[in-house]
Amino acid sequence: MAISATFIGVNKYSDFDIPDLTGAVRDATALWALFEDSVPGIKAELATNQQATLENVRRLLDEKLALADPDDTVIISFAGHGSRDHRLLFYNTQTAFLEETSLPMSELVERFNASPAKTVLCFLDCCFSGEAPARVFAASPVARDHANPFQQVSGRGRVLIAAANFNEKAYEFPSGGHGLLTDALIKVLQEGEGRLDVQTAIAEVMNRVRAAAAGLGYTQTPVHYGLVEGGLTLPVLKPGKHYAAAFPELGGVSVGADLSELAAFGFPSPILQEWTIRFGGGLNDLQLSAVNEKRILEGKSLFVVAPTSSGKTFVGEMAALKAILKGQKAVFLLPYKALANEKYEQFSRLYGDSLGFRVNRCTGDWLDGTGAFLNGKYDISLLTYEMFLGLATSTPSALNQIGLVVVDEAQFITDPQRGIVVELLLTLLLTAREKNINPQLIILSAVVGNVNSFDEWLGVARLVTEKRPVPLIEGVLDRSGTFQFVSAEGAAKTERLLPFGAVIQRKKTPSSQDVIVPLVKQILAQNPGERIIIFRNARGPAEGCAAYLADELGLAPPVEILEQLPKHDLTSSSLKLRKCLAGGTAFHNTNLFPSEKETVEKVFRDPNAGVKVLASTTTLAAGINTPASTVILAEQEFKGDDGRDFTIAEYKNMAGRAGRLGYSEEGKSIILADTAYSREYLFEKYILGSLEPIRSSFNAGQTETWILRLLAQTGRINRLDVVKLLANTYGGFLAAKNYPEWREQTTKKLNVLLDEFIRLELVEEEMGQVKLTLLGQVCGRSTLAYPSMMRLINLLKGLSVGNLSVKALAAVIQALPELDRINIPMFKTGRKESRKLAATETGWAARAAAEYGQEIVRAFQKNADNFFAYYARCKRTLVLDDWAQGASLESIEQNYTVNAFNAVGYGHVRGIADATRFHLRAAHQIAAVIFIEGTADENAIETYLKQLEEGLPEDALGLLEIGGNLGRGEYLALYRAGLKTADEVWASPSEKIAELLGAERTAEIENLRPA
Ligand SMILES: Nc1ncnc2c1ncn2[C@@H]1O[C@H](COP(=O)(O)OP(=O)(O)OP(=O)(O)O)[C@@H](O)[C@H]1O
Ligand SMILES: [Mg+2]
Repeated sequence: MAISATFIGVNKYSDFDIPDLTGAVRDATALWALFEDSVPGIKAELATNQQATLENVRRLLDEKLALADPDDTVIISFAGHGSRDHRLLFYNTQTAFLEETSLPMSELVERFNASPAKTVLCFLDCCFSGEAPARVFAASPVARDHANPFQQVSGRGRVLIAAANFNEKAYEFPSGGHGLLTDALIKVLQEGEGRLDVQTAIAEVMNRVRAAAAGLGYTQTPVHYGLVEGGLTLPVLKPGKHYAAAFPELGGVSVGADLSELAAFGFPSPILQEWTIRFGGGLNDLQLSAVNEKRILEGKSLFVVAPTSSGKTFVGEMAALKAILKGQKAVFLLPYKALANEKYEQFSRLYGDSLGFRVNRCTGDWLDGTGAFLNGKYDISLLTYEMFLGLATSTPSALNQIGLVVVDEAQFITDPQRGIVVELLLTLLLTAREKNINPQLIILSAVVGNVNSFDEWLGVARLVTEKRPVPLIEGVLDRSGTFQFVSAEGAAKTERLLPFGAVIQRKKTPSSQDVIVPLVKQILAQNPGERIIIFRNARGPAEGCAAYLADELGLAPPVEILEQLPKHDLTSSSLKLRKCLAGGTAFHNTNLFPSEKETVEKVFRDPNAGVKVLASTTTLAAGINTPASTVILAEQEFKGDDGRDFTIAEYKNMAGRAGRLGYSEEGKSIILADTAYSREYLFEKYILGSLEPIRSSFNAGQTETWILRLLAQTGRINRLDVVKLLANTYGGFLAAKNYPEWREQTTKKLNVLLDEFIRLELVEEEMGQVKLTLLGQVCGRSTLAYPSMMRLINLLKGLSVGNLSVKALAAVIQALPELDRINIPMFKTGRKESRKLAATETGWAARAAAEYGQEIVRAFQKNADNFFAYYARCKRTLVLDDWAQGASLESIEQNYTVNAFNAVGYGHVRGIADATRFHLRAAHQIAAVIFIEGTADENAIETYLKQLEEGLPEDALGLLEIGGNLGRGEYLALYRAGLKTADEVWASPSEKIAELLGAERTAEIENLRPA
């Protein structure tokens, strides 16, 4: 019982009058390789071009068909020209002697029928009429008899599939792909597991060929003749070494969902085992398309647009691992430090500890591996956008070493504040191509309305899908209990979600609490396994919402969670969180320590841990993995003075958190509305509304900032070429595409701008070449917008020369627009028109003057939009220093909270410290250029940056050397007990440490004790 096969493919014809083909040899080779790789013991021949002469083919047919045993299976495939009179043409076919030098299809059919073999399968990818690129040869006279040559196929297990009907052409995919039939065959025969039923497979092939032809704008109706008795099956084909050798450009490999198949791409089994544990169900459709169609594991760049939680990050992760295995370096760019840290921990665990890959991170942290990054001493690095842009701009050689760049959450390009960074870093990568630096790019984005030529700008392929792994119901609920929604199938419906009378007004005015409480109760009563996220637009409401739900729902507390929370230097939010957890709810906002946030994410994710309800601010939406079954959006706009409505994309990102893979069949997202009218309005706007297209973050009002930063990426450049820098950006690309006059107009504007820059000594010009001055360079590399740089320069120039301490510099930064945007609660009294500040709030000015001197406080007065802004600067400066000197959070909260309804929380402190840190280095460099002497030195800056980051006084920083992950409160407890360095800790008896930190922590620290 043998299987034998012959695969014939003819692209080249010795007769000059027979046009060559491009895909026929590939067809034969692909089928041959797949069968060789998948059917053990098969006797398969491949005959292409010169080997495919008429004589040779007849010999092969004799051998295979005539000499077969009665229980054999024979497979014959032919790809090449077919003539109108139903002949197959071969390498040595001569048009002048067509009858003698080609094979009539009727002869093939006779041999078919006569063969003693039990089963014969024949695939003919050729056609019977037409012109190139169809597989046609039209020179021969049309046979009078148009009878179908295959009608006589009969006998047991005889299957013949022809690519096109007897009077139709058969097509190839353009640019050297396969014939449509072969393409469908090789795909269908590779689908599924184990064996496939031949009848079913044939039906599927027929459909695909018809559909593919229609897609190319042709009609091609494949036909199949024959008879199969019993369930004829074939093994599912799997590409292996023959396929890989035949198609090196493809790496030869197409994989199925099973992660172990990725071994074909050279992933070692420990990685594949890890991945299999992580994703039991294997690769999802998005990931399969990225691998099999978009070939990301062979270095192809790709722009992926897919909904929240569709597994985009893993697309980047696979490509990164592949790059590393090839010996390249991979970088992952992420919007938040927390995301970078999460990936850093994960990658270190998965690939660092066990496989020995060097995992690096640069997030603006004192723990950063920037030195290692710049020296190329890493395999994979996780960076925030800003860090990457900064490092790649200041040290261009850092780019040369990178083989792959993954830009995660690339929809950030439309972010009003940070979009510029994403666009500039992508521009940098694109312009590097001019120097032959051409890393693979994997750009990942949440759903957007319209790709708006983004992929074209990047010059990469795209993969766009709206398909979610778990379907989503989206709707709006009003206070009467009516829910207007779009079902997962896309039908608009209205139903009663809450019974009449369920919503009861609790306070003087209606509030969302009136709806949230009965709604959450009902959801949990119907299915206690639900996980619910309630998005709130500010920290306070998120905390309040979790608190009242804990009170009203009476849920069981999670198991063993309190021990994981920090115990020292707690904030008021830490205490509130504990109370919520005791009632089975939690909140997530910037008032929580990172370790608290992680704990909350963990207990919410863990189906057994028992926190069912999470109230969160909107920051949870990007990239953090906390899927819920239901998402409730209490508001539709951001809070604050510049509060604006959520964009559709922001809404979708939050709504998209609903749907837990493996736990819920569908997710549900509910926007809360007051009235039926606003329900209709919100339904139109958010549920039916179309998503915003991807936009450039370029805005003509910020041309100065853009040009300075682009010049910082460039070095010396011809003055007339400066416009090209802008044209390279996404914004410039779109503008030039849409407005032909853009370039000329922009050149004129830039001329004026460059003159201004020269006057300000930011740019110098020499023989038509412009370049940044030293001051221009530090400005262009800074994170500050142009007006802020100018303000900073003016403020600094106004200070009396000499001794500008780091602390004073950090204070000056408080007067920049970037810091003015950082929220600090200020208690305002009176009516809107005659708002006043409480006396305590105006008192900050005197305290700041005592602490920093009159000069600094006068600087705060300059350019302040109003006196609130002035006093807020004073207040921020004081908070900042208290934090950096190690004041307890409890005391900071108490001392700076003037009104309990608008309390100062940890989130405010952290916000001020982080924003100051973020700009301090740049400000220092600008100061150093302005005051050649008298600024703090590098070391002082590094020290203060560490202080701001950790909230520890200078003489406590030695404690950081203990390692481990002690929290601020623990360091402070040691410090206040007189232990100021790691050595002093190691020199103390364990009992003393245990008194301060508890026995458990002490045991952990003991493990870190140097030998
Ligand atoms: N093939 C898979 N099978 C099962 N789970 C998967 C698979 N791929 C990814 N996941 C998991 O699905 C969750 C969402 O994946 P991921 O965070 O990559 O989504 P995303 O598309 O990047 O979403 P976001 O827009 O939130 O960043 C994660 O927990 C991830 O581990
Ligand atoms: Mg992601």
